[in-house]
Amino acid sequence: MARASIIDGKAFAATLVDRVARATDDLIADHGIKPGLAVVIVGEDPASQIYVRNKGETTARAGMRSDTHRLPDTTTQADLLALVRSLNADPGIHGILVQLPLPAQIDAAAVLGAIDPDKDVDGFHVVNAGRLAVGLPGLVPCTPLGSALLLKDRLGDLSGLHAVIVGRSNIVGKPMAQLLLAENCTVTVAHSRSRDLPALCRSADILVAAVGRPEMIRGDWIKPGATVIDVGINRVPSADPVKAAEGKTRVVGDVAFAEAAAVAGAITPVPGGVGPMTIACLLANTYVAACRANGLEPSSFDA
Ligand code: GUN
Repeated sequence: MARASIIDGKAFAATLVDRVARATDDLIADHGIKPGLAVVIVGEDPASQIYVRNKGETTARAGMRSDTHRLPDTTTQADLLALVRSLNADPGIHGILVQLPLPAQIDAAAVLGAIDPDKDVDGFHVVNAGRLAVGLPGLVPCTPLGSALLLKDRLGDLSGLHAVIVGRSNIVGKPMAQLLLAENCTVTVAHSRSRDLPALCRSADILVAAVGRPEMIRGDWIKPGATVIDVGINRVPSADPVKAAEGKTRVVGDVAFAEAAAVAGAITPVPGGVGPMTIACLLANTYVAACRANGLEPSSFDA
């Protein structure tokens, strides 16, 4: 029986998109600056196509310029770098996102490194990783940023809480650790080689699951009353064997939701938790980049 309250990321993201849209209206009305986001997709990966379509639609709905560059999967590294450089030089474009994964012939690190850090709305450039690590203003990766906003909205002051992050990726785990350190949490970053992961997780007031393994984190790994943020988006066969045999799938997180909801104080569902926050934060980052490019102080979208 569920005792946890459900953290409605979808609803929170909708209010964040509204706030960014209002700030964008003001930026256009007061300064004649329309934030512009360029999304680049190479190839036909079906999941990427869906993400990119959603990003484009939400960006336009928020009143921003939205350009999508669709390149064939035979695109060379030189062609992609040339596009990135032309977007770096375009004053009407304030944010650049190159959708991952990229085809094998392209060196993703080289492409991400070629994006102007001040237009890097994914926050993946080493300069932005460095700024986050030392507490300078920069652009913060969208998924951990959205997760931190949900936590602050739910818990208020996070000072002194023990946060355990399962996963050490550059995109989620490491920047999440930096954000929670900045909120005065005690942070443990756990990963696949950590000893006694269940016991580590049970010591968490805040548990962030970002491992990419369906339902790996079980209910008895969770401290009663803890706040659980499930970053996982894993496609698995349908629970109904007949539908599974027809190839039907469903999406689950890294946390066994029903078990965890019986123990946790609050938990994000999958879908409808962290996922929608990622796009909302992409828009917030694009707005922030457009303000800074013009020497303006962006309004804060903090909780
Ligand atoms: N592919 C899946 N998620 C993301 C993301 O947040 N940014 C980029 N660039 N590619 C992705």
